[in-house]
Amino acid sequence: MPRNSRIQGLRDHTPDERLDLVAEGAGIAAEALAALRPDAGLSIAQADHLVENVVGVIAVPVGVATNFTIDGEDRLVPMATEEPSVVAAASNAARIARVHGGFRTSSSGDVMIAQIQILDAVDPHAARLRVLEARDELLALANELDPILVSFGGGARDIDVRILPTRVGTQVIVHLHVDVRDAMGANAVNTMAEAIAPRIAEIAGSRTLLRILTNKADQRITRARAVFDADLLGGAQVVADIVAASAFAEADPYRAATHNKGIMNGITAVVLATGNDTRAVEAGCHSHAARSGRYSALSQFEQDADGNLVGTIEVPLAVGLVGGATKAHPTAQAGVTLLGVETARELAAVIASVGLAQNLAACRALAAEGIQRGHMTLHARTIAASAGATVDEIGAVAARIVADRRIRVEYAREVLDELRATSA
Ligand code: MEV
Repeated sequence: MPRNSRIQGLRDHTPDERLDLVAEGAGIAAEALAALRPDAGLSIAQADHLVENVVGVIAVPVGVATNFTIDGEDRLVPMATEEPSVVAAASNAARIARVHGGFRTSSSGDVMIAQIQILDAVDPHAARLRVLEARDELLALANELDPILVSFGGGARDIDVRILPTRVGTQVIVHLHVDVRDAMGANAVNTMAEAIAPRIAEIAGSRTLLRILTNKADQRITRARAVFDADLLGGAQVVADIVAASAFAEADPYRAATHNKGIMNGITAVVLATGNDTRAVEAGCHSHAARSGRYSALSQFEQDADGNLVGTIEVPLAVGLVGGATKAHPTAQAGVTLLGVETARELAAVIASVGLAQNLAACRALAAEGIQRGHMTLHARTIAASAGATVDEIGAVAARIVADRRIRVEYAREVLDELRATSA
């Protein structure tokens, strides 16, 4: 059965009902998502295998973004975030893109790069050429180490050598390009880099020092675009204002940092919900934002020939489906199952699309009404909880502090005391 991400009124249900509804929309049994419930998620014993000195686990809410169509497929998207309004905003933006076919993506491929640093070469330029002459030998050596990756169609593909002037002298930097297929790739490329380094040192006639992947994963780029309907956005003026907001972010690093933070609200939430490495993806995205030498926006918005808003994004996404926490964390597995992605590339397509949707929603809110109204309404629930409201009391306290325009913990406490006094 094809997946259906268009679930209306999901917010009006209880979490248990929502789980059943999203399972139905994803065409899977609700039991496949059981690990999303806190009591069936990561156990202490499982956590103890993931990191050291384990004493507990921290729970982060997982919401499901609706309405996404990506490359013709509906996807219900798990998002792990503590920030109110992120999931609702992504769903809303996806709805506005859905009428024009949703998101279209493309990928530069699944190539990660490892760096091998050569120090003290007496003839750096000649050393560079000697390493390049040994390209085939070095690739074969690297591929011998990972026959499984090679059997899946991946493996070391190319070598590149750079001469790098530094403040402690000239260094020679070898880049090993590896097609990592459905893995995030860090383990595969680091193992290969360590293994070929002694031979590189021999060829260069000097010594190697660092052997590690680069998180500037610019051979693993995902691009996404979508047309956002002008009428659903609120009309021609809103479209023009979002274009102006986008131009501001493209031109100004101060605005670009915040514009990109809005993108990362979406990207990091999906990366975390699928057990991938949030820091690797963030390092990659921000380095990409600075690729011209000046930090800029990761996305652009333009008006298309029909007067609609067209959004584009380009981000390096080193994410995988095999190995790491994605496999070892039961909740991450449930997230991947809900998405129904089968390759790392499909997962990256979802992540880039959510980043673009999140960004559109933020720019629209900022341009049309300012961010605080919607944000504070949702934030009021967190404030009510911080003031000590129980699950049954949160709704009433939040509604009152919003109505009175006093969304502060002290006031929420007063309202709570009043509520308890009147219901006692
Ligand atoms: C808040 O988490 C994100 C925004 O600041 C993003 C933006 O300004 O574009 C709203």
